[in-house]
Amino acid sequence: QRDYRIASIPGDGIGVDVVAEARKVLDRAAARYGFGLEWTEFDWSCERYSRTGTMMPEDGIERLSVFDAIFLGAVGFPGVPDHVSLWGLLIPVRRAFAQYVNLRPVRLLPGTSSVLKDRTAEELDMVIVRENSEGEYSELGGRHGSGHPGEFALQESVFTRVGVERIIRYAFELAGTRSGRLVSATKSNGIIHTMPFWDEIFAEVAADYPEVGAEQCHIDALAARMVQHPDRIDVVVGSNLFGDILSDLAAAITGGLGMAPSGNINPPGEYPSMFEAVHGSAPDIAGKGIANPVAQILAGAMMLEHLGEHAAARAVSGAVETALAAGEAATPDFGGHATTTESGTAIAEAVG
Ligand code: NAD
Ligand code: IPM
Ligand code: MN
Repeated sequence: QRDYRIASIPGDGIGVDVVAEARKVLDRAAARYGFGLEWTEFDWSCERYSRTGTMMPEDGIERLSVFDAIFLGAVGFPGVPDHVSLWGLLIPVRRAFAQYVNLRPVRLLPGTSSVLKDRTAEELDMVIVRENSEGEYSELGGRHGSGHPGEFALQESVFTRVGVERIIRYAFELAGTRSGRLVSATKSNGIIHTMPFWDEIFAEVAADYPEVGAEQCHIDALAARMVQHPDRIDVVVGSNLFGDILSDLAAAITGGLGMAPSGNINPPGEYPSMFEAVHGSAPDIAGKGIANPVAQILAGAMMLEHLGEHAAARAVSGAVETALAAGEAATPDFGGHATTTESGTAIAEAVG
């Protein structure tokens, strides 16, 4: 019997609800495809912070290191400043485990009310490959001159050759297995120093992949193209912040934030990878029982794929489509009436 040890961190807000539904679906897939998921749950969250003063224990990273994968809901909740919750859990995990690839696939889902709902599923199928360890998300900087008219804030971005090259190479490899088209999102009019550096490395790596159609596009124009001509986009590679923004945009045009999964991948596999939804803890709907569990369930499918359980992964994403098409899984954000639990149950049943 194949058994996988999974660390589950439901976190805050709707994270708790959607992780519960996803576990239900994944356990069903495991039973059907003959493997075991051994879950260990951690209560690391803003609620824990309020009790103890930290988001996770001091040896948190060490404790996670023994797992085959990490399944995260979302962290962050009013009452605890975001920089505390994020630098206290999410960002340290991504960095400590060198999860330098953030993979964010989106596809048009049946029943969506997106402005692009009349497109075909073939036209709207892309992957954002987001740099996940450096770039604009740096600790370098700060605020100065509090209380003075000249008060200012300074932020330094860090782009290393190693960091930029490895994410671009990953994106080329991925594009080679898909349509053979890759677009790099930058802002390279020479205004921002880091961007021509990124472009230069992109061009160098492109020389190693003559079979991939490589294109560089300004992020502002790419955002417009994503809405107007999504059929011309397949794999997108971008920096940490650009990839973050493009992934919510890509989610919005396919099915909404409730539908978009995400994998924080450590490609060599020397550390655990982490799977989560693109969305956050949604404090505005937390506790109402109406959060859409699909993004978290699809993140679970990505986790199964990562663990090598390809048939089960396909069954889970197939079950999402079946249950959505049958109208049983759609929560209010997706134009339906299902509660979080009803949606999760319908999808679990569709797994078989
Ligand atoms: P959000 O993604 O939580 O919510 C944005 C909007 O989308 C809200 O109106 C919300 O109700 C809706 N939404 C999101 N997911 C949904 C779902 N599954 N079903 C139905 N509606 C859904 O983004 P935000 O409001 O900017 O952030 C809220 C908190 O979450 C903040 O503390 C933020 O820092 C945190 N956050 C955490 C993560 C993470 O842990 N990975 C990711 C993003 C945001
Ligand atoms: C995401 C989130 C995080 C990010 C925030 C909460 C730090 O928006 O996972 O997309 O920007 O990485
Ligand atoms: Mn984001």
